[in-house]
Amino acid sequence: MDRTKKEELCSRLAAVGQEHVLAFWDELQPPMRQRLAGQIMNLDLAQIGALFQAATAPENWADLARRAMAPTAFRLHDKQRAFSAEQANDRGQAGLESGRVGVILVAGGQGTRLGVDHPKGMFSIGPVSGASLFQILLEKIVARARSCGMRIPLYLMTSPATHDETVAYLRANENFGLAQDDLKIFCQGTMPAVDAQTGRLLLAEKDQLALSPDGHGGMLQALAAHGCLSDIHQRGLRHLFYCQIDNPLVEMCDPVFLGFHLLSNSELSTQVVAKRTLRDKVGNVVSIDGKLRIIEYSDLNLLSDEIVERRAPDGSPIFWAGNTAIHVFEAAFLERMAHIGTALPFHVAKKAVSYLDRAGELVEPQRPNAIKFERFIFDLLPIARQAIVVEVDESQAFAPVKNAPGDPRDTPESVQAQMIALHTSWLRAAGCEVAPGTAVEIGPLFAQSAQEVAERVRPGLVVTQPRFFC
Ligand code: UTP
Repeated sequence: MDRTKKEELCSRLAAVGQEHVLAFWDELQPPMRQRLAGQIMNLDLAQIGALFQAATAPENWADLARRAMAPTAFRLHDKQRAFSAEQANDRGQAGLESGRVGVILVAGGQGTRLGVDHPKGMFSIGPVSGASLFQILLEKIVARARSCGMRIPLYLMTSPATHDETVAYLRANENFGLAQDDLKIFCQGTMPAVDAQTGRLLLAEKDQLALSPDGHGGMLQALAAHGCLSDIHQRGLRHLFYCQIDNPLVEMCDPVFLGFHLLSNSELSTQVVAKRTLRDKVGNVVSIDGKLRIIEYSDLNLLSDEIVERRAPDGSPIFWAGNTAIHVFEAAFLERMAHIGTALPFHVAKKAVSYLDRAGELVEPQRPNAIKFERFIFDLLPIARQAIVVEVDESQAFAPVKNAPGDPRDTPESVQAQMIALHTSWLRAAGCEVAPGTAVEIGPLFAQSAQEVAERVRPGLVVTQPRFFC
């Protein structure tokens, strides 16, 4: 039986030059053989070969960046907008009150840059409370549901590396107030890493391929595979607010953003911030041949100043719009895309990936030695009908925790400073005095905006000690 299995696997692998992954088969116990066999059978070996070939002939970003135009957007200070922010807010509120809005939160990946051993969502970020990213984002959903008087179900994506701990953590914390019935946790898929020179699959262990999460774009297939699309359909949800776990400033289900999306009959809307410098480390939302696309900073930043600093005839920069990874999707669009199946392309990233050498010794490279394949959800932008771009003020809505302390940007310290600055401004606008240098934090269940703070605090309040409003 085992011999037949080995032969079957071997002939499958040999056809594409990958039989080396069975090098330690004879040493493995039956359950380990089963595990390796399962991983191999799940692979689309022809696809991996084709992706490796394509990876060696990458997209011509210089050409795309030269053709790119600044995206048309609902900009913050544009008085000529087709709809005002007030109109958008009213429409968004009505949308929320219709009970047809859900949330997709992606909390998979590996959080390598931050360098923590637990899911990023468990990272403590509240500057006074020490609340985790999960607590802040889930409480924001609870608060929004409460204020619009409707349930807002959450579809939470994990990765194999974050799944079990996330489930246990949320259970232990009673989902931070979100009803169990309103929370669906689903795990994204994986892709194998391959050697960057040869395209050969890498072994992480004698019975395990080196696998990594398939990118936030894996959400589409994972939503379908885990029955979330049917659940969305059954509940009659029409609009899905999408965000990432690493941004504690996200304005959850932002009514203005949702309103622009609804008023524009958009299938996919994306929120952007005006970049501080043209080489900021955020994706660049642009229009190419009349379609919205995102050029990753890692691709743009390899290009010359002449391209990166291109300007429109009115003198404004082409690459001004930084991607916040906050979107609104129409449920029907997601369903259509999931049915189209593997609509999203894979992107390649060169990374340092540990692997077993021929002798079965673990090699831990210091430099990128492998290629990982990832899908990005924003590749749906050019396919969506009426995709729109809405600008938000970075100081109020975007502070991603990406890097470990010490990095110049997007670190826990810089994010906490931004949270304190925003919450201080809300308190001051409500007539409170906050002593300079005093850390204040407003919990989502206390208030989610300057206006809500003004309704809850007493004008004249003086804050001289760190304080958490909850
Ligand atoms: P990042 O691209 O910043 O990746 O993800 P990361 O895994 O958090 O961190 P690095 O790059 O390894 O340092 C942005 C968001 O997308 C989610 C992450 O949880 C984060 O919220 N994500 C990323 C996934 O859910 N799955 C993935 O495969 C990748």
